[in-house]
Amino acid sequence: MWRYFFGCKAIWRQLAVLLVLFQLSWTGEYYRAQGAAFHGCSLDLDPSIWSLPFCNTTLPIWVRTLDLVSQLTLAEKIGQLVNTAPAIPRLGIPSHEWWNEALHGLAYSPGVTFTGPAYAATSFPQPILTAASFNTTLWTLIGQAISTEARAMYNLGQSHLTFWAPNINIFRDPRWGRGQETPGEDPLLTSRYAAAFVRGMQEIDYFEERNTYKGPDGGKHFFTHDQTSRSDSENHEVRSMHRLKTSVCCKHFTAYDMENSDGLDRFHFNAQVCKQDLEDTYNRPFQSCVEEGRATCLMCSYNQVNGIPACADYYLLTELARNRWGLDGYITSDCNAVELIYSAFNYTQTEEDAVTAVLDAGLDLNCGTTTADWGLSAIHQGKLSESTVDRAVFDLFSVRFRLGQFDGDLQYQLYGSLGLDNICSDEHKELAIEAARQGIVLLKNQDNILPFLQGDIQSIALVGHNINATEAMLGNYHGSPCEYITPLQGLQSYTSVVFYEPGCLDILCQDVSIAAAAVTAISYADAIVIMVGLDQTQEGEALDRASLLLPWNQQILVETVANYAEVPTVLVIMSGGAVDLTFAKDNPNIHGILWIGYPGQGGGQALADILFGHHNPGGRLPVTWYPESLTQVPMTEMRMRPNTSSGYPGRTYRFYTGEPVYEFGYGLSYTQFVCTNLYGPDKVLIPSRRLQQCYHNRRASEDCLKGPDDDVTCDNTVFQLQVSVTNQGVRRGSAAILLYWVPTDSGVDGEPLKQLIDFQRVLLDAYTSAVVSFLVSPCDHLISVLHDGSKLLHEGIHSLVVESTFKNELVHSLSLIVG
Ligand SMILES: *[C@@H]1O[C@H](CO)[C@@H](O)[C@H](O)[C@H]1NC(C)=O
Ligand SMILES: *[C@@H]1O[C@H](CO)[C@@H](O)[C@H](O)[C@H]1NC(C)=O
Ligand SMILES: *[C@@H]1O[C@H](CO)[C@@H](O)[C@H](O)[C@H]1NC(C)=O
Ligand SMILES: *[C@@H]1O[C@H](CO)[C@@H](O)[C@H](O)[C@H]1NC(C)=O
Ligand SMILES: *[C@@H]1O[C@H](CO)[C@@H](O)[C@H](O)[C@H]1NC(C)=O
Repeated sequence: MWRYFFGCKAIWRQLAVLLVLFQLSWTGEYYRAQGAAFHGCSLDLDPSIWSLPFCNTTLPIWVRTLDLVSQLTLAEKIGQLVNTAPAIPRLGIPSHEWWNEALHGLAYSPGVTFTGPAYAATSFPQPILTAASFNTTLWTLIGQAISTEARAMYNLGQSHLTFWAPNINIFRDPRWGRGQETPGEDPLLTSRYAAAFVRGMQEIDYFEERNTYKGPDGGKHFFTHDQTSRSDSENHEVRSMHRLKTSVCCKHFTAYDMENSDGLDRFHFNAQVCKQDLEDTYNRPFQSCVEEGRATCLMCSYNQVNGIPACADYYLLTELARNRWGLDGYITSDCNAVELIYSAFNYTQTEEDAVTAVLDAGLDLNCGTTTADWGLSAIHQGKLSESTVDRAVFDLFSVRFRLGQFDGDLQYQLYGSLGLDNICSDEHKELAIEAARQGIVLLKNQDNILPFLQGDIQSIALVGHNINATEAMLGNYHGSPCEYITPLQGLQSYTSVVFYEPGCLDILCQDVSIAAAAVTAISYADAIVIMVGLDQTQEGEALDRASLLLPWNQQILVETVANYAEVPTVLVIMSGGAVDLTFAKDNPNIHGILWIGYPGQGGGQALADILFGHHNPGGRLPVTWYPESLTQVPMTEMRMRPNTSSGYPGRTYRFYTGEPVYEFGYGLSYTQFVCTNLYGPDKVLIPSRRLQQCYHNRRASEDCLKGPDDDVTCDNTVFQLQVSVTNQGVRRGSAAILLYWVPTDSGVDGEPLKQLIDFQRVLLDAYTSAVVSFLVSPCDHLISVLHDGSKLLHEGIHSLVVESTFKNELVHSLSLIVG
């Protein structure tokens, strides 16, 4: 009973937040209507404005930003700390909507509209599928395509240039409704995805080095991000201030991977995370996003982390993100998260205290209105200092300068000539299909039933509610796509005779009686494709699943059709999160299984290309597919490591002690890849001043194995590992080769079973070979993380394991010597 009661309360809370979000987006519309031009310093303005120093493009960006901030009144500055930043007409400063979405293409959001002249944008697959390609080049190309469309939309007045993607939280539990938005469960895979996507979205190669900011005093920044002026904060104030194509934001920092489960929701959840998990799991992708991706924004999450709301956590925002990782950009709150610190967490007594807590912690922008509503009175009450506000306003405007928003009219701007032709171009539409082809995972192929041969298979029966899926193929955070190629349309490009029968009225398949119609339809066909799975009514934002089984009666439909059929039968699962498919894996009447994620606007074409062998599948699962028994574990249990005394099985392939249905990295091909000749050094010497190194960690306890000085940096030695990969089959195909570290005798408590440390995808013609090289950096890849979060490089034997697609494993052992 109490559970039900809590559930109801949670729904009201969610509704309240949705209402706020609706109001916010409405306000966005309002400002957009008011301020048509998105760029300042136009020559159409009064010369007294465009001759101000901040409009002088020959000056360094930090100087221009400082000048602009110095021209603003206190009230104007406070007004800028919200996502819908108003125009300041006396200085010709245009309004700016910070909240734009672009998870897998330009998406509906307060700053993006599809009401013309551009009615659509390319909708790529959901990241969970794109990640399955294990192809970093593809991720960068997608980022470049999206940012090109974003620039074109901006020029048309339909988008701003600050995007709140990617979502790089670790997909810890398959029930999480937003796991579909992420690159999966592994810290390294997620880190690589983050860096590749962010660089694709942000970088302007040709500008990169030219605008390197050195600043006064040999590179010390005017504003310190550290309120207490800790001595080491200065090291991080050398900011590159490099110019940007678009600005993107890594979210949600940190330990956010739960919507509403166990009677709790994300607005009221206190994530209990130990330092070991925070350091080697939850925070890893954010560090890479900032350090390697050079992301210009982090978004702090709704939840508390060990009792402190993430957006009010000085350690996370300032010590870690700013000072240690060197974030060069701004920090935003998730939407309405500042208000929730006061109203949901009761973490502060007043709204003014909440505003002060977040700004003091290092936050710059509030998605919402709380800082604008209560910022002035926080200053008048003596809680908030104006210099803190200055810092936030500086961080925000510096990003707008780097985007070229104050470089005058469009014709003077880089990318100013992009327009309608650059949106939904043939090249981008093809890339969307290609991304789905590369990600789709072949899970079962009994008797090599796939691919279908066009000569043999002259008619196909399509069964299931997804046969002609359109919007469902996009997943969440989508926009208006250029086109749809549905599964039915995709198959029709290979065979003229396609019988189709949903078999059920909707996704729940509540009325199975019409499955009989499906059985009739299939009796005429040479092969059967059953298309079922999930959609946003089963998993999504504010919606976790409770079960891993197919919804309601879907399994009955699949079994009815498969057991009746006497021809090749293939099951196609559309979903973000994993489904327990034990029944289908074990059923000899289901010959093939494909997982297609949410494959984007061209997903039906990609699926048909794979079914008919026009493309050889090479995707590998970016998450563990667990059995239904995992749901006995509370969703809110954040621990990664198993606990043998309590029977807790642990999370993800790195720790899970149970038997998965399909493991992380699983994926078949129509050809066979074999790895041989794994070659690498037997001994690696790390020239170091100490035997064991302990990374600097301010939360570390005394027993961390510390060296003599505090700021230890591990040596940057790297070594190479090589392996020969041979395609032994008759078809050309791609294989992702995964390299794992298997910690053996380090003596550290809670080591992962194995840890992905590198991967390469190779494309090989039939009967050809290639040598694949991996670069291993012991100080990044062979590091153990201790209970207190400190890091240890173990001296001794390390095992490295290469896995090709067919579980063909090669092991290389080497001895690591530190001295
Ligand atoms: C812009 O700044 C440069 C460098 O300080 C200066 O030489 C130039 O006169 C300025 N231009 C204008 C229009 O003020
Ligand atoms: C919030 O906390 C204060 C003490 O800090 C307490 O007096 C008050 O009852 C709490 N409110 C709620 C709704 O829990
Ligand atoms: C399938 O969807 C496409 C695109 O929405 C539509 O044009 C077509 O009529 C649909 N076909 C059937 C058989 O429902
Ligand atoms: C493991 O489980 C046991 C028994 O429930 C408990 O006492 C112990 O604290 C747990 N260990 C950790 C690290 O949570
Ligand atoms: C990676 O993706 C790119 C872009 O689609 C493609 O050209 C390349 O062939 C892919 N690599 C492999 C090995 O499949």
